[in-house]
Amino acid sequence: MSGIYIHIPFCLSKCAYCGFYSIPSLKRKNEFLEALKQEIVLRKDYLHGWPVGTIYFGGGTPSILKVEEIGTLLHLIKEHFDVEVDPEITLEANPDTLSPEYLSGLREIGVNRLSIGIQSFFDNDLQYLSRRHNSQHARQCVSWAKAAGFENISLDLIYGLPTSDADQWNRNLDCFFAMEVPHLSAYALTLEPNSILTKQIEMGKALPVNEDDAVRDYELLCRRASENGFLHYEISNFCKPGMHSRHNSNYWFGIPYLGLGPSAHSYDRVSRQWNDSHLENYLCDFPFEMESLCTEQRYDEYVMLRLRTIWGIDLKYLKREMGERLSSYCEKKAQPLIVQGRLSQTREFLYLNDSQMLFADGIAEELFW
Ligand SMILES: C[S@@+](CC[C@H](N)C(=O)[O-])C[C@H]1O[C@@H](n2cnc3c(N)ncnc32)[C@H](O)[C@@H]1O
Ligand code: SF4
Repeated sequence: MSGIYIHIPFCLSKCAYCGFYSIPSLKRKNEFLEALKQEIVLRKDYLHGWPVGTIYFGGGTPSILKVEEIGTLLHLIKEHFDVEVDPEITLEANPDTLSPEYLSGLREIGVNRLSIGIQSFFDNDLQYLSRRHNSQHARQCVSWAKAAGFENISLDLIYGLPTSDADQWNRNLDCFFAMEVPHLSAYALTLEPNSILTKQIEMGKALPVNEDDAVRDYELLCRRASENGFLHYEISNFCKPGMHSRHNSNYWFGIPYLGLGPSAHSYDRVSRQWNDSHLENYLCDFPFEMESLCTEQRYDEYVMLRLRTIWGIDLKYLKREMGERLSSYCEKKAQPLIVQGRLSQTREFLYLNDSQMLFADGIAEELFW
C-alpha cells in the first residue's frame, strides 16, 4: 500500500497565526496546475507500482480549486498510478469556500473524506485568528457536507486561545459533538516565529497566549472525547472506532508515499525527499532535496512518530527491523521515564497515556539515539 499527497499552496488570504507556506493570491493558479500535471507524470514510477490506497489534497486551501480541476488531477493520477478500487480521497477545505453545489460536485468526482478547518464555533475566536468565516457558516457547511453525502468528515479545532476560557472551550466541544461527525483534529495554538499573530503579540496589539490554557483545554478535550466514544489515536487526532485518517496513519506506520507540489515530502522506505517550497522554483524544474536514512535516523524517526500515537513503540518491530542494539538502547533509556510515570510499558510496547501525549516530542527526545 502507498499514498499520494498533493500540496495546493494558495489561500484567499493569510490567517494571522499560520506559519505554513501559502500564497494569498490565486494569480498563478493555472500555471501551478499545469506544472502539477507535469509532475504527476514525471514521478509516475516513484511508488514502484505499490497500490495507492489514499490520496490527500492538503494546503494551503485545496478547496479554492474548482471541482473540474480536482477531477482532472484525480483522473491523471488514476491514469499513471495503480490506484486501489476504493481509495480514501481527502480534501482539506476552508468553510468560506464551501457551498452545497461545490460539495455535491466533490462527491461526484470521488472525494470521500473532508477535513474542514472550522477552528472554532465562536466568533470572538475566529476574529482573533482572522478567519474568513463566522460561527454560523461553520455550522452550516457541516450540514451541507452531510447533505451532499459525506460521511467521513473531520473538523479542525484550535484550543489554548486567549479569547476562550475553559467554559467556552467546553461549549465549543459541545458544538463539535452535536455535529455528529466521526473525526476531530484539535491543535494547541502555536505561535509560529514569523506569523502575523506572533508579531502582533510582540507589539502588544493582540492578546498574549498562555501555555497553561492549552494544557487545561487539552485535559478537557481528552476527557470529553473519551466520554463521547472517541478514540484518542494521535496527539491531535480523535475518531469514532474505525474512522481514523488512513492517509495520516500510514505516515506513522512507515508506509511509502509520494508528495506532489511545492514543499511536499516523499518517502519510499529507503530515502526521504522534499520539494522546494517556493512556487517560483517549483514552476521552473521541480527541484527537490533527498536524504538516505541510516538506521539510527530511522530509529529516531520511528520513536518520534510512534510515541505520538496510541500504538506506541513496538519493541519486537524495533528488534526485527533495526537490530538488538537499538531495541536494547530504547528499553534502557525508557526505564527512568517509566519510573517517573511519564511512559508506560506492556511486554511488547512503550506508549504514552492520554495526559502525557501532549508532551510526546520532549519524551521522544529522551529516547533518541
Ligand atoms: C495546514 S492547515 C490547512 C487547513 C486549511 N487551510 C484551513 O486553514 O482551514 C491544517 C490545520 O492546522 C491547524 N493550524 C495551522 N496553524 C496552526 C497554528 N499556528 N497553531 C495551531 N494549529 C494550527 C489548523 O487547525 C488548520 O486547520
Ligand atoms: S490557516 Fe489555512 S487558510 Fe489560513 S493561511 Fe494557513 S493554510 Fe491558508
